Amino acid sequence: MCGIIGRIGRGEAIEPLVTGLENLEYRGYDSAGVAVRNGAGIEIVKRSGTVDTVAEAIDGADLGGSLGIGHTRWSTHGPPTDENAHPHTCATSDVAVVHNGVIENHAALRARLRDAGHEFTSETDTEVVPHLVHEHLDRGLEPEAAFRRAVDELEGSYAIAAICDGATAIYAARQGSPLVVGYAGDGYFLASDVPAFLEYTDTVTYLEDGDVAVLRPDGVRITDRTGTPARRDRQTVDWNAGEAGKGDFDHYMLKEITEQPTSLAQAIEGRYDADTGRIALEDLDSFADVERVVLVACGTSYHAAKYGTVALRRSGVDATAILANECSLAAPPIDEETLVIAVTQSGETADTLAAVDWAKRHGARTLALTNVVGSSAARETDQQLFIRAGPEIGVAATKTFSSQAVLLSLLAHRIAVDSTGTSGLAHEELCRELERLPDHVSSIVDESTAASIATRYHGRDAYFFIGRGYGYPVAKEGALKFKEITYEHAEGFASGELKHGPLALVTPETPVYAIFTGEEDGVTRTNAAEATTRGAPVVAICPPGHDAIELADAHLAIPDVHPILSGLLATIQLQLVSYHAASLLDREIDKPRNLAKSVTVE
Ligand code: F6R
Repeated sequence: MCGIIGRIGRGEAIEPLVTGLENLEYRGYDSAGVAVRNGAGIEIVKRSGTVDTVAEAIDGADLGGSLGIGHTRWSTHGPPTDENAHPHTCATSDVAVVHNGVIENHAALRARLRDAGHEFTSETDTEVVPHLVHEHLDRGLEPEAAFRRAVDELEGSYAIAAICDGATAIYAARQGSPLVVGYAGDGYFLASDVPAFLEYTDTVTYLEDGDVAVLRPDGVRITDRTGTPARRDRQTVDWNAGEAGKGDFDHYMLKEITEQPTSLAQAIEGRYDADTGRIALEDLDSFADVERVVLVACGTSYHAAKYGTVALRRSGVDATAILANECSLAAPPIDEETLVIAVTQSGETADTLAAVDWAKRHGARTLALTNVVGSSAARETDQQLFIRAGPEIGVAATKTFSSQAVLLSLLAHRIAVDSTGTSGLAHEELCRELERLPDHVSSIVDESTAASIATRYHGRDAYFFIGRGYGYPVAKEGALKFKEITYEHAEGFASGELKHGPLALVTPETPVYAIFTGEEDGVTRTNAAEATTRGAPVVAICPPGHDAIELADAHLAIPDVHPILSGLLATIQLQLVSYHAASLLDREIDKPRNLAKSVTVE
């Protein structure tokens, strides 16, 4: 949600800045811009629209200079116009600022600055920052001190990068929104996320809340707000630029769907023993003291959390999943004997981080299930389980859902064994089947008929997805994916709920995707028949030869496996259906309207 890039070093900054913006576009695509400093001052190019629009304008602008900042925007304050695009400046344009987050006291600051004679040209909360820096420069402070003073006045969440005319430095501050420093051979980077500069370096330092970083051509200095040096580790990320690129695929989403044999193999590698049925989740402490588990998450990760809840309950563990953004008003009771699992791909979702904070305030033990090693969720929790899915750039989460679901299934067994001495999961069978999981996923990806099914049901009134047990969160996730990238009406229901209301919407124009996981399939079949009776075409997602195929209009095949894995495999078929349906509608599949990856505002 908004992407920031900064670069300082030898050679021209503009190319790495534009590359960075292209790599960060998944975080926001309402507008983009860059500011580059050279001997003649600070030059800015910014536009509403995509990074491509700005890149074209940059081509004609001859932006020379070895240091600069850039931004791709997901609008919060003010619509996506040229004026609201970042970077923002003060009246004299000697300070330029990019920002991700929300400055909560911007109205009061703006009023005070206006009274002091400052004129504003945008509706953004960000614009107060260059004016504040300018005010302190006017009072005679050096740029670094002026930046620090300005940051001290801000309330809310922010990742900020600023440059000042006359200073060969980038000033950055982090409070609640991610920022990472990259160390390349010929200079330094600053960005919201590592893929921004992965072509140039994989050596990084994740900034922490309260950090101020100053990047100069000869080094990076990280301090706290007061200027006291802060020790922050350098890490080497195990992602590479190829993984973060689109390769030969038309869309990141399709690339990421087809990567699932690999991402799932990475997720489970070394974490179970197929021969003994032992599930070893590396160095996670014993869960013997855990009385109950509460999973907190949003969106697709919430559906994975619901999947995990089914596995936990089936293992004999008291478990609840709650939307992270509902925690403050509708939280279940928690205490020291509660394990709170934050399920979050990015590890930066503001709602989920707020829920982690809530859990810690109540003394609960916390665990992050995340894809990003240096993320806020990873740093703020007691323990971490990394899903090892590699970078996910498509805004619609795909490969990370399947990795979250499979790891929660393993974790459920481990928690049950530690806390109750036994587990209701048929884990030996599960472990045996995990061996074949990557092959099963490959066969789905290679042989799926999702494209023809998407074509067959193109242009209908609405699309319903139903399932029970593990199939219910999969139905919810199938519908979320479908609506998110096609902009068509889609809903997911527990199949038994259809008759309690939603059936009123079912007509011959509403295809119903029914997920059969091998458990209580007869009941799901009855529920699907309630839809066919009203003329709705049913697409059965089940193994070949399954009796649901007889009543269905169409069939998407999944192998006949352990129910935990059936649900996960059904998800992959539904991801492909959504992808092909969106493709027929010529949607911006990787950048669906109004959305962005990594939602860093509450
Ligand atoms: C949908 C999607 C979102 C995210 C949600 C949480 O395809 O990707 O619903 O799942 O914003 O994000 P993370 O998992 O990063 O916390």
